[in-house]
Amino acid sequence: MVGVSAKSGGGPEAAKRRAGERAAADVEDGMVVGLGTGSTTAHAIRALGERHTDGLEIQGVATSFQSRQLALEVGLPLTDLDAVDGIDLAIDGADQVVDAPSEGTHGTLLKGGGGAHTREKVVAAAADRFVVVADPTKLVAAIDAPVPLEVVPAAHPLVSSRVRALGGEPTLRAASEKDGPVVTDNGNLLVDCAFAEPLEDPTALGRRLSDTPGVLEHGLFPDLADTTYVGTEAGLEVRSY
Ligand code: A5P
Repeated sequence: MVGVSAKSGGGPEAAKRRAGERAAADVEDGMVVGLGTGSTTAHAIRALGERHTDGLEIQGVATSFQSRQLALEVGLPLTDLDAVDGIDLAIDGADQVVDAPSEGTHGTLLKGGGGAHTREKVVAAAADRFVVVADPTKLVAAIDAPVPLEVVPAAHPLVSSRVRALGGEPTLRAASEKDGPVVTDNGNLLVDCAFAEPLEDPTALGRRLSDTPGVLEHGLFPDLADTTYVGTEAGLEVRSY
């Protein structure tokens, strides 16, 4: 097992499982499937492993070391993004999902809590359909948690200075079980950027962060999700964008 437990029963884990399993049910024979990162998507990967054992033929494209390891563990065939023409369906979790139907930001995601958002964004962008799996704790009226940046190591002082100029407070993400910073699967650092107010225009902020030299990718995902499955303790809710 790789850092994600397969808890069952009621409570928050049951909600995540409902969302993950619902997304896995959308996968059809012959599809290339983007395999996101995190504890909610892990339920989808496990469900796909079971369906593959029962005869479903698919190929997975992992977005992280973690999702690759789990896919291998459950026996899913894997390929690489540059070895396929495209991705039919990508499944991934989120740290926050804007749930504000009257606003233009409806469906915007905040990702990168696991530091995998660069590959996750590439896979989501390459997918014909991007399905988000979440539980109700992820739904927000506006993004109000720090925005993760994947940053080329030597650039982190410059990036931090540019983030401050945008009104943010940057923090280099520290590892908990090693000295020094977290290093991503791509060999880069993570800078988490806290803003004092909820983000009114995440698209505009995302563009400014992308314009900063040394920023490989930010964790804001506007206009990428097609559907969010929100698992609840009682059932499932669907958001379509
Ligand atoms: C990885 O970088 C993140 O974007 C995850 O997809 C996100 O943190 C969701 O993870 P959980 O499903 O574990 O909350």
